[in-house]
Amino acid sequence: MSGAGSNLAALLDAAQRDDYPAEVVLVVSNRPTATALRIAADRGVACECLPVAEYGGDRHVRDLALRDRLRAAGVPLVVCAGYDRILDDAVLAAFPDAILNVHPSLLPAFAGGMHAVEEALQSGVKVSGCTVQFLEPGAPDGGTVILQAAVPVLDDDDAESLRRRIHEQEWRLLPEAVALWCQGRLRRAGRRVLVSPPAEQVATLRTGAR
Ligand code: GRF
Repeated sequence: MSGAGSNLAALLDAAQRDDYPAEVVLVVSNRPTATALRIAADRGVACECLPVAEYGGDRHVRDLALRDRLRAAGVPLVVCAGYDRILDDAVLAAFPDAILNVHPSLLPAFAGGMHAVEEALQSGVKVSGCTVQFLEPGAPDGGTVILQAAVPVLDDDDAESLRRRIHEQEWRLLPEAVALWCQGRLRRAGRRVLVSPPAEQVATLRTGAR
């Protein structure tokens, strides 16, 4: 992550529930000033900062270090929760179908930038929202969509009010997508990601039990 860390906080809240199938073992930021780092530290989660300046300003070299750090931590899943840089293909290749990203628009609308909320307002759309997607090589924000939530654009919205309501949906959607991934309930069908029912529901359907 790179910034305020409200999505990280939502994930950490979710992970405190006994029935949540994931834990956050490492938080990495590219920015020393990211509030996300303090949120992680306050909650006792290991956190590290890998600013590009420490790698001679070379993003590729920094991203190789990031990949190696994530591998060393043994994480099966990486979550970009407000990461403001495009990850090097070397990172994407190291975690196929295992890097989730959250973006504040209904992708593919308003992809590829840091101003999706402002662009939605300027474009005059009546509905925007947020997307959790797999990060894949190719166009920025072009990965396969996992979950989306729509948020109406109100006549008196400004960027701050719309961002706030989109954020509220992100805080729900991102922990849900992480849980689905951890439960093995995401299945690709071409460009679509299909969500399987929970295991107990499958068992019920099979036995016909009520
Ligand atoms: C979120 O709106 C996310 O969609 C975008 O960056 C923002 C991060 O917010 N990629 P926060 O740092 O989690 O509060």
